[in-house]
Amino acid sequence: PSNQPLDALGRRLHDLRISVTDRCNFRCVYCMPKSIFDKDYAFLPHKDLLSFEEIERIAHEFVALGVEKIRLTGGEPLLRKNLEILVEQLARLRTPSGKPVELTLTTNGTLLPKKVRALKEAGLSRVTVSLDAIDDAVFKRMNDVDFSVQEVLDGIDAAHAAGLGPIKVNMVVKGGMNDEQIIPMARHFKSTPHILRFIEYMDVGSSNGWKMDEVVPSARVINQIAQALGPLQAVNPNYTGEVAERWQYVDGQGEIGVISSVTQAFCKDCSRIRLSTEGKLYTCLFATKGHDLKPLVRSGLHGDAVAQQLRHAIQNLWSLRADRYSEVRTANTTQPRDRIEMSYIGG
Ligand code: GTP
Ligand code: 5AD
Ligand code: SF4
Ligand code: SF4
Repeated sequence: PSNQPLDALGRRLHDLRISVTDRCNFRCVYCMPKSIFDKDYAFLPHKDLLSFEEIERIAHEFVALGVEKIRLTGGEPLLRKNLEILVEQLARLRTPSGKPVELTLTTNGTLLPKKVRALKEAGLSRVTVSLDAIDDAVFKRMNDVDFSVQEVLDGIDAAHAAGLGPIKVNMVVKGGMNDEQIIPMARHFKSTPHILRFIEYMDVGSSNGWKMDEVVPSARVINQIAQALGPLQAVNPNYTGEVAERWQYVDGQGEIGVISSVTQAFCKDCSRIRLSTEGKLYTCLFATKGHDLKPLVRSGLHGDAVAQQLRHAIQNLWSLRADRYSEVRTANTTQPRDRIEMSYIGG
């Protein structure tokens, strides 16, 4: 359809990632290091957060422009009060051809046992749960606030029982921290319906002190697992622009994935846009500046007039988009600059 915008590099607008809070109950060393995200850290004040109604109005225009997939992120999205109400509103959106959007959530899992039934009933399609180790001591070193592995596994079980599977489990591999957990994690999740995905540690934001030599290349992860747990074969992507590369155990005992943003950039098909908690749009995870939609949604105007202005703003921004950070990353570009933080934009 003619109103579906392409960016300056010919890429479609297909996925919208919405961050609903910049807070988290974890302090993962690669995301919210305690030294920076301490009790004096200035999180967004409540009045600056988009309301559910404001988020819904923005999402509505994105769906009209061709977005078919919405992912809620954080920080930890389940810390946002009454999130199921937003889920219910977003689940009602329909694409121009009348289909519901795919509505998913990336969470650290600890609040799932409490929340997952309401989320499912509200219309959530699936969840992705982060888990960086299967050994308690290593996991606690990663989250840095003493959450145990069992709490996350309980969350995964609860989501599975609620019918939100197959569940994707995200493991960020940080060399020297949790890389010896690659095999134990793969062993734990082999022969389960869950899909474990290994993520290359990325230089997002400027507070995690990222170093290239702490990145474990996905090719090495795949080799290690194949040697320890049996041969793997590559599987075709579920859709163009899928972030994870899929692999299946030849013995039929399940699927794993690798996300290789550092060693194998996937900007070529990147169809994702991000909306921050306070209403700024980012056309790349590594952007330094967002496009603030809040003045528009809080202009006092309502109805078609604002909807049209929102749509034009989005179309404009997307048509100018030329981001491809992962493809052009060099030792130079990874020097700290005023990049947005992962906890602010949700990955
Ligand atoms: P599905 O394909 O639906 O499972 O979602 P996803 O893999 O895109 O989402 P998820 O939130 O699970 O993200 C997995 C990892 O990929 C996280 O580390 C994200 O930061 C990273 N990621 C997601 N999208 C992008 C992207 O556009 N660019 C880069 N560099 N990394 C991304
Ligand atoms: N590099 C790669 N992945 C990261 N995540 C958070 N910070 C980083 C980073 N620096 C992951 C989280 C979550 C997903 C949204 O992004 O663990 O699974
Ligand atoms: Fe929280 Fe996820 Fe960041 Fe860990 S990676 S601190 S769970 S937002
Ligand atoms: Fe998309 Fe930017 Fe990630 Fe490349 S680095 S895949 S352009 S978000």
